[in-house]
Amino acid sequence: MSLRHSYTLIAPIYDLFINAATRQVRKNSLRALGDVQGQTILIDGIGSGLDIPFLPQGALYIGVDYTPAMLQRAIKKSVGKSVTLHVGDAMALPYPDGAFDAIIMHLILAVVPRPERALLEAARVLKPGGRILILDKFLHRGQRAPLRRLLSPLLGRAVTRTDVVFEDVLAACPQLTVVSDTPALGQGWFRHIAVEKTL
Ligand SMILES: C[S@@+](CC[C@H](N)C(=O)[O-])C[C@H]1O[C@@H](n2cnc3c(N)ncnc32)[C@H](O)[C@@H]1O
Repeated sequence: MSLRHSYTLIAPIYDLFINAATRQVRKNSLRALGDVQGQTILIDGIGSGLDIPFLPQGALYIGVDYTPAMLQRAIKKSVGKSVTLHVGDAMALPYPDGAFDAIIMHLILAVVPRPERALLEAARVLKPGGRILILDKFLHRGQRAPLRRLLSPLLGRAVTRTDVVFEDVLAACPQLTVVSDTPALGQGWFRHIAVEKTL
């Protein structure tokens, strides 16, 4: 079963299970956008649009996701907001280089099969000096986490990987520099990470 199939099945119940658990960390992450007046911001892997209610006004937002059934939910939340939605692949984004002032990547880097590819793509479409706000679950280099590593090949095909090491992903993207990295949820398994395009 592909990720698109899984998320098509999950779409009707996604908000029920994820909304309450992630609401506060979403707000915390999005606060780092600061003043967005006049900016164009990508929400990469927007899913059902749980970030939409917390987006600061003043920017033009583009949301992209691979699963139309998830985007259907996002459409309802985007009514009256400056959010445009596209079907697309985070590992091959349908946007030109340097198109965005900032990028939001909540619960997407650990989901895609090739997170390095997705982060490189985000870096490509980001303007120099722009920031990517990441919220996701990552292991640290050398962290044992045997259960998460054992289950990852199975879970990764259906919902999300559980063995992604952020530092390994970042190593593939020399144009990005970590600005902040703080625990978010699950005793630090989920982290808020902000990176800046410096090259
Ligand atoms: C765990 S959900 C996160 C959704 C949303 N970002 C959130 O914070 O609730 C993962 C999302 O990634 C999407 N997805 C999976 N593979 C993708 C890909 N290659 N490109 C873009 N989106 C993808 C799924 O359709 C799903 O909506």
